[in-house]
Amino acid sequence: MRRFFNIYDNSNRSNNLITTQNCREDIIGELEAIIQYENHLFSTDDPVARATIQDIVDEEKLHVGQLFGLLFKLDPISQRQFEKGYREFTTDNEK
Ligand SMILES: [Fe+2]
Repeated sequence: MRRFFNIYDNSNRSNNLITTQNCREDIIGELEAIIQYENHLFSTDDPVARATIQDIVDEEKLHVGQLFGLLFKLDPISQRQFEKGYREFTTDNEK
């Protein structure tokens, strides 16, 4: 996985920041996995392969939710801003 931000070079960073950044990278990893599995899902007609891959895709989406729960615990500002963005989206699309 590519690294977006190398926090290990700075010894002044708190462990909470390291855990938060790792969580964000893990969310990216789960989203990349979803993209890969869905690409593979739609490139096969084999019903057993499709069922297996779809089950894995669903599990990866669950992992995204779990990691967002962890991120929101570690960084409540992220939760507030994400929820604000979600409300803006739903308000803008109710029309
Ligand atoms: Fe996963």
